[in-house]
Amino acid sequence: MNLKVRKVASGFAGEVIGADLSREEDFAPVYQAFLDYGVVAVRGGPLAPAAQIAFAKRFGPLMGRRPSTPDKVLMPGYPEIILLSNRREKGQKIGISDAGRYWHSDLCFEEKPNLCTVVHAVEIPPVGGDTLFADLEMAYTALPEALKLRIEGKRAAHTFKKHYLEVMAEGSDRPPLTPEQIENLAETYHPIARTHPETGRKTLFINPGHTTHVEGLDGEESAELLKTLYEYCLRPAHIYRHVWSVGDTVVWDNRRVMHNAEPYDMGLYTRHMHRCSIHGDAPF
Ligand SMILES: [Fe+2]
Repeated sequence: MNLKVRKVASGFAGEVIGADLSREEDFAPVYQAFLDYGVVAVRGGPLAPAAQIAFAKRFGPLMGRRPSTPDKVLMPGYPEIILLSNRREKGQKIGISDAGRYWHSDLCFEEKPNLCTVVHAVEIPPVGGDTLFADLEMAYTALPEALKLRIEGKRAAHTFKKHYLEVMAEGSDRPPLTPEQIENLAETYHPIARTHPETGRKTLFINPGHTTHVEGLDGEESAELLKTLYEYCLRPAHIYRHVWSVGDTVVWDNRRVMHNAEPYDMGLYTRHMHRCSIHGDAPF
């Protein structure tokens, strides 16, 4: 079957049909779709862990295990893959079951946030568990000139601490961090409008999950500015809802989009995904 790339009907993402992700020659069109659309959904059927790792490595160096990642959520034999899953084995959870249920960009709170994320769907619930993506390049383009000028050269603070404390207060069953680990969840500042290092196009780089405030503004003014910007980010025309099928491999560009994993009934259904994360550069 020939490889075909097309824009999805319902949103901004690209869809790839007929790709064999283990073939080197199929990577160039997938990568071009990734740059063109920001989110690329490869409808490709099952992908073995080793093949997913090899495919993900073509985007850049893989993230190693982070100090805050518990060993038990890594795929046995393949520590490059984190299990996003509510499956249990011998009564024990084997993955992170409540990951990413809020608008965020992966590791935006690091000096060098994730370049992209590669997720492969192994088992999905019949209802729920969709992933929403918001294109912050379209959001930036839609801003009035006065607003673009207002954010020019401004930076925003990002931290994981905000989200971590919120989910733990809500009773998450994640393994808790030590007080020292929590203290080390520092704030990082990035430009609000960043330039995509490969396309050269400008995009917003903020998200409600991890962005706390705008540098140099008082609390009220900062909150008002972020609220205004999020209204552009979350316009329906800037959002793509990915309804997963088993065998989908979705790659998203964390430099350009934010995402939000919708919940599903974890008592009734299983959702099991394999995730690889790729190192990025410092935003500018
Ligand atoms: Fe995420």
